[in-house]
Amino acid sequence: MATVALDHEFRRMNLADVEQVLVNERRGYTHPWTAGIFRDCIKSGYECWLLHYAGHLVGHGILSMAAGESHLLNVCVHPDYQGNGLGRRLVEHMVDLARAGHARSIFLEVRSSNGVAYGLYESMGFNEIGIRPNYYPSYLGREDARVLAMELIQPGRL
Ligand SMILES: CC(C)(COP(=O)(O)OP(=O)(O)OC[C@H]1O[C@@H](n2cnc3c(N)ncnc32)[C@H](O)[C@@H]1OP(=O)(O)O)[C@@H](O)C(=O)NCCC(=O)NCCS
Repeated sequence: MATVALDHEFRRMNLADVEQVLVNERRGYTHPWTAGIFRDCIKSGYECWLLHYAGHLVGHGILSMAAGESHLLNVCVHPDYQGNGLGRRLVEHMVDLARAGHARSIFLEVRSSNGVAYGLYESMGFNEIGIRPNYYPSYLGREDARVLAMELIQPGRL
């Protein structure tokens, strides 16, 4: 289990945050999202959140919700801050938001080569439900996505 980093907080992402978010996004991903994608997510009313640690913006998470389903679209922690439990806290926060929004399930895609993220999701109760062949661009051409899902039990709901 990673060391638990306690000095962290979550804040909603605004349009003014996007440039700073891109710094972490470009460090975290080989094929990062553009500013336009983040702006569209905010304007669409998606759950767009910032993770601050010790006063620094170190990560972000994006979740969409519709018709009782939710989709975790982006989870990123700056490489300098990874391995301290922050990624787990961030995913937990996004799952809590999905529950609060009365989603019955949460879905996500993860690169086949991304063992760290896959292991994190699996340890949190996500199950692999399929593969999307050639879903992601990669340096070698295209790469498959593994599709993961978790049922969210809603207290008092059957
Ligand atoms: C996936 C990601 C968010 C995890 O963030 P993190 O802050 O490192 O996560 P945590 O510290 O909470 O660690 C989560 C688990 O991954 C493991 N882990 C973290 N870094 C690791 C590494 N470099 N090597 C092996 N395992 C690692 C930890 O052991 C931990 O498991 P544990 O709690 O059982 O010990 C982060 O790696 C990241 O932002 N990656 C780039 C963007 C990305 O791939 N996002 C996911 C897209 S689907």
